[in-house]
Amino acid sequence: MNPKPRARIFRGTARNIRFLARRLRAGELVAVPTETVYGLAGNAMDERACRRIFRAKGRPHTDPLIVHVHAIQQAEKVSGMNAVARRLAARFWPGPLTLVLPKSRDVPDLVTAGRRSVAVRMPAHPLFRRLLRLAATPLAVPSANRFGYVSPTTAEHVRQGLGTRIGYILDGGPSEIGIESTIVDLRNPRRPRILRPGAIPRGQIARVTGVSLPVPSRRYRLGSVDAAQPAPGMLPRHYSPGTPLLLHKRMPRAAGRDEAWLHLRRPRGTLAPNVFWLDSRGDMRAVARRLFAMLRKLDAMSFRVIHVEMASGRGLGEAINDRLRRAAGGA
Ligand code: TXA
Ligand code: MG
Repeated sequence: MNPKPRARIFRGTARNIRFLARRLRAGELVAVPTETVYGLAGNAMDERACRRIFRAKGRPHTDPLIVHVHAIQQAEKVSGMNAVARRLAARFWPGPLTLVLPKSRDVPDLVTAGRRSVAVRMPAHPLFRRLLRLAATPLAVPSANRFGYVSPTTAEHVRQGLGTRIGYILDGGPSEIGIESTIVDLRNPRRPRILRPGAIPRGQIARVTGVSLPVPSRRYRLGSVDAAQPAPGMLPRHYSPGTPLLLHKRMPRAAGRDEAWLHLRRPRGTLAPNVFWLDSRGDMRAVARRLFAMLRKLDAMSFRVIHVEMASGRGLGEAINDRLRRAAGGA
């Protein structure tokens, strides 16, 4: 028998947001909408609250949390901002950009997994911004999924994953962007590095920093390689559905009724019921917005394998491919 869900979903009324801000101040957790994906928020300055975040997600304490702030002054309090960070913040905050900077002493070591750096982001979602303002403290907010599963892009996804472990979910509608923020390491402002490709393409960041950012080196397995999952714990699998995923640079013809074929755009002609697509015209923003919800949906349909078409590596395509590779267990 499944345990009864205890999470309540709250609409974003002024009264509800005041209530949820009080819960946060009392050290409790609240799942929140952001423009990227839903997050699980707790007071970043309260170690007890942060401990609860790790417990609710089943996340190891070695994986640090992003500190979300309402205003630039708050970012200056939790981190050592530098000139490049201020320039990037002026251009992209509030928005889907996370900066890794030297950590201030006020931030509990638990948040940064003992590192001397802290990840900081100022989110754009209006309801979350209101909540941050009323909570009047920076919030530690990882994506609101069980550790290792696909990030949630609706309040209902959050309830499915964490409903028995948390009490409060603020519903802000489906996430507008659908993939997580871009993380830029600015500990050395002269050599910025992208730690996680995300909603803001690297070209846009390079235009502001004035230097191109090195592409993280990684070797991936593409389709045609054995789709079997690596043993749990062998690879840092993230965002992964339970059904094995096989990635393709060029999609082969659909076959096998027990296999799903997920295209970026609608293929031509008459299509079998096991053929799916993310956007009729393959618009990359729409693809990003729908990707995680589609992986959840296909995962629930008990296919033996899900074949997925990869994006071009450019622009948003870099982040989309990164998430696909992780979901396939290859990152
Ligand atoms: O869009 C987002 O960033 C979402 C929403 C909820 O804001 N949050 C998110 O958090 O994706 P999470 O915890 O799922 O992923 C945060 C990533 C982790 O992979 C973590 O290792 C990295 O940020 N990170 C956090 N602090 C870091 C640090 N000091 N140095 C390097 N990486 C860090
Ligand atoms: Mg996550």
